[in-house]
Amino acid sequence: MARRRMIYEGKAKILYEGPEAGTIVQYFKDDATAFNAEKKAVIEGKGVLNNMLSEHFMIGLGGIGIPTHFIKRLNMREQLIKAVEVIPLEVVVRNVAAGSMSKRLGIEEGTPLSRPIVEFYYKDDSLNDPLVTEDQIVAFQWASPQDLDEMVTMALRVNDFMSGLMFGVGIKLVDFKIEIGRLFDGDYQRLILADEISPDSCRLWDIETGRKLDKDIFRHDLGDLADAYTEVATRLGVMPKKSGGSTGPTLVK
Ligand code: TMP
Repeated sequence: MARRRMIYEGKAKILYEGPEAGTIVQYFKDDATAFNAEKKAVIEGKGVLNNMLSEHFMIGLGGIGIPTHFIKRLNMREQLIKAVEVIPLEVVVRNVAAGSMSKRLGIEEGTPLSRPIVEFYYKDDSLNDPLVTEDQIVAFQWASPQDLDEMVTMALRVNDFMSGLMFGVGIKLVDFKIEIGRLFDGDYQRLILADEISPDSCRLWDIETGRKLDKDIFRHDLGDLADAYTEVATRLGVMPKKSGGSTGPTLVK
């Protein structure tokens, strides 16, 4: 990795300067954190799985006309992406009550929602990423009303696509988080899907058994995280089925 200049190191990814202006190399680490990094571990193979899964989702979303930062996967842990100015908001879409919303509103986990709920959280670790209102977002100029309209539309389109994709492999998309960035082209700016979409940033429940196949396994010590992510990747055809005793991803020449 020393060959590239590091731009930023986050909890689960590192960004390096890309080969051309306007590009970045996004490296997926094996590090897992939860509760604002109060809980930490290294989970072997997680970075590879998230790299492959995020590639799969971004290509699919691009295919239905949602602009994304994804350019191409470079290797098992890295992808080339477009450099964007990330809007400091986590956009969460929920289909079923779970996690912080269940806790905040006292709604039992697993309660289906009558319509998808879109929420915004202000990205600031020192404040613990607080839930914010659209008025606050506009007043503090994190995004304009037009940006917000576009972000909600994009988030709901991502929800429809991802829900269908997951339903097809027997998985319920309970909720997920996306991040959106600004891509500048002269005076013109476009909003595009950024960061990653992976089981780190979604809640995924097996439709038949209710088994959790996402980062809640790590948050609440429910089992083997890499096994669950491998299960998601295998069902989606992103990873070959395990054969013999071999575990974890294999390199394809
Ligand atoms: P929450 O119920 O904890 O608010 O999480 C909602 C969704 O957002 C869930 O799918 C997990 C995802 N998420 C992240 O990707 N990053 C985060 O920092 C948090 C808190 C949640």
